[in-house]
Amino acid sequence: MTLDARMKERCAQVERALDRWLPPATAQPRQLHESMRYSVFAGGKRLRPALLLEACAAVGGEDDHALPAACALELIHTYSLVHDDLPCMDDDDLRRGKPTNHKVFGEALALLCGDALLTHAFLLLAREQVAAGVPTVVAAEVAAVLAEAAGSGGMVGGQAVDMDSERKSVGAETVEYIHRHKTAALLRAAVESGALIGGAAPAARAGLATYGAELGLAFQITDDLLDLESSEEALGKRPRQDEQLDKATYPKVYGVERSRQLARQCVSRAKAALECLGENGALLGQLADHVVERTG
Ligand code: IPE
Ligand code: IPE
Ligand code: MG
Ligand code: MG
Ligand code: MG
Repeated sequence: MTLDARMKERCAQVERALDRWLPPATAQPRQLHESMRYSVFAGGKRLRPALLLEACAAVGGEDDHALPAACALELIHTYSLVHDDLPCMDDDDLRRGKPTNHKVFGEALALLCGDALLTHAFLLLAREQVAAGVPTVVAAEVAAVLAEAAGSGGMVGGQAVDMDSERKSVGAETVEYIHRHKTAALLRAAVESGALIGGAAPAARAGLATYGAELGLAFQITDDLLDLESSEEALGKRPRQDEQLDKATYPKVYGVERSRQLARQCVSRAKAALECLGENGALLGQLADHVVERTG
């Protein structure tokens, strides 16, 4: 099966599970639940849940055990996008090819939508993982890995420094901090959670964690490059926003060519870290190449 076909399959699997585990749009308060479903089903790439499922499969685990955490991770990611787009942050009006959550539902509801998605993620981790047969001690560890990656020492911390660095002349160390925290932390947590659920040996877990962290940095460098070079149709979001806000990006610090090189170096390190998995790491290796070669 091609990588593309495999990713489509993963996408469909995750969409079905998200639909099952999100409150129905008809549940009260209706507008809040509609706004949650609006952003979750607006058409994301589902890269993080796919990585979690593939990492679990690579160490011999079962999809059914990994699906609750995969969905929880996508909810955390979607919440981060809803908040990232708010006027007090990046002030964007297009996301996943649709008007941003606050443009449709208003700022207050968009804020609450993000709060609710984040909270619901931890409900899935506590309840659905155990219902799916994940041992409680593993379920608790997965919840801890995702909480650490999403919180002030991870994604939220990276977002704080990202906001603080607008219109400043930042150095290599700061932009690496931002990217490793705001984005790579969740990608690393995706594969580490998959490894945990699949019962990986410590060496495989460590290798996968390195793979996720390096892939995550490559992913955000590529996001910066695409912001400069791609189109609204391909991205589903408005290009050239980073320049407008004078964000700390890799192209700003290193220039376009050097940024591309650095992203490729991250991918090499990511793939090298898969060696401990042998043939079982082949698909994750292909996925790493795809992350820097993507056009949208
Ligand atoms: C966008 O992530 C935010 C970043 C961390 C760059 P994605 O590019 O994975 O967005 P979706 O989920 O496909 O919409
Ligand atoms: C966002 O980074 C990372 C998040 C934690 C949401 P960006 O601000 O570059 O993401 P986009 O370009 O809006 O998707
Ligand atoms: Mg941002
Ligand atoms: Mg943004
Ligand atoms: Mg961006």
